[in-house]
Amino acid sequence: MNNMKHHLECMACGAKYKPEEVLYVCRKCRGLLDVRYDYREVSGLRSDVWADRPLSVWRYRELLPEFKPSSIVSFGEGGTGLHRCSRLANSLGVRNLYLKNEGENPTGSFKDRGMTVGVSKAVELNAHMVACASTGNTSASLAAYAAKAGLQCVILIPSGEVAFGKLAQAVICGAKIVQIRGNFDEALKIVLQLSELNSKLYLLNSVNPYRLEGQKTLGYEVCEQLNYRVPDRIVLPVGNAGNISAIWKGFVELHRLELIRSLPRMVGVQAEGAAPIARAFKSGRSEIEPVVNPKTAATAIRIGSPINWRKALTAVVESEGLMEIVSDEEILQAQKLLASLEGLFVEPASASSIAGLRKLVEGGFVDRDEEIVCVATGHGLKDPDIVMKVCEKPVEADPNLESIRNVLKI
Ligand code: F0G
Repeated sequence: MNNMKHHLECMACGAKYKPEEVLYVCRKCRGLLDVRYDYREVSGLRSDVWADRPLSVWRYRELLPEFKPSSIVSFGEGGTGLHRCSRLANSLGVRNLYLKNEGENPTGSFKDRGMTVGVSKAVELNAHMVACASTGNTSASLAAYAAKAGLQCVILIPSGEVAFGKLAQAVICGAKIVQIRGNFDEALKIVLQLSELNSKLYLLNSVNPYRLEGQKTLGYEVCEQLNYRVPDRIVLPVGNAGNISAIWKGFVELHRLELIRSLPRMVGVQAEGAAPIARAFKSGRSEIEPVVNPKTAATAIRIGSPINWRKALTAVVESEGLMEIVSDEEILQAQKLLASLEGLFVEPASASSIAGLRKLVEGGFVDRDEEIVCVATGHGLKDPDIVMKVCEKPVEADPNLESIRNVLKI
């Protein structure tokens, strides 16, 4: 079976654009764009066609934009573990809990799913330079894929706010990094302007709809890993709001192709000091009020003006899902709980999904019998400093048996 042809479509005014056009928002109304297909081209698609390919983003190539094979830039991303977490489930008071551990991706976050498609698109378009604004993970991922593809990479980050692990990843890959004296929202605005002014600079933030095509494969993978049983709920952190909309799209596509019979409820979790979408949802507003000075220890999701907010609200509303708000303290407690009960070390932003679920179960919004998948978006090693700040430090002792026995009391 061949790949489907696609075009870009504005989600606000319906304007259509050819895939060869380089644009990030609608030229007519500046609405968000989506990659659209004619699903009739794959109407007979059966999941067996994927069975003998490795679990990865490109396993699902029939449902991804078509590129020349020579354009594809890949490290074999995707295929991350879906871990059953019985001890954590017990502690939270639910029965069926899984963690989709996106930290197992090549650069340690879910961004790699989007970047393999986005950077392949850049190669297909003959771009020489790629760019992004980032709270850290996008830049780490883009720098790696750009290096592999031989493209120059320009990164704008908020000064002093990016976890060192992530910064080191981008530095070692040779990206040109500018730390701006401002926040992520300001960085994104500037890099979008830069890319629109300079057609040589291909923008790879999640406003670029090709990124989201790669990220939607998380939904396909979860279905396959559960043998096509659809979980009742997917819980994940929300920052710039691309991922929640991408994963929802993945499930909707499988449903449309009759490969699954139901759809999950999407639950987005935001940090207290950076929760414009959750606040809009909770108060029944259809528009967000941006947070001018977002604050949270979960630096990955320290975003006050999420560019994909409209797509995210649609995903939550259409799926009859929820949004939750968690404090930094709840996030850091959840990070420790997950590691100490399941051995899974995730970064603070990722732990917000556990913190959010905990709150929703306690509030009676989630049924204890539901099958729930929490998405852990990035690896804990990206931000070890925060752990050392909040956890107890190991004790010191003299190098002799007696003193060690004294300390350990054994
Ligand atoms: N979790 C982690 C670990 C992230 O790095 C991000 C976003 C998110 C969740 C939120 O995902 O934006 O799709 O809602 N990080 C971006 C970055 C903004 O620059 O790395 P989203």
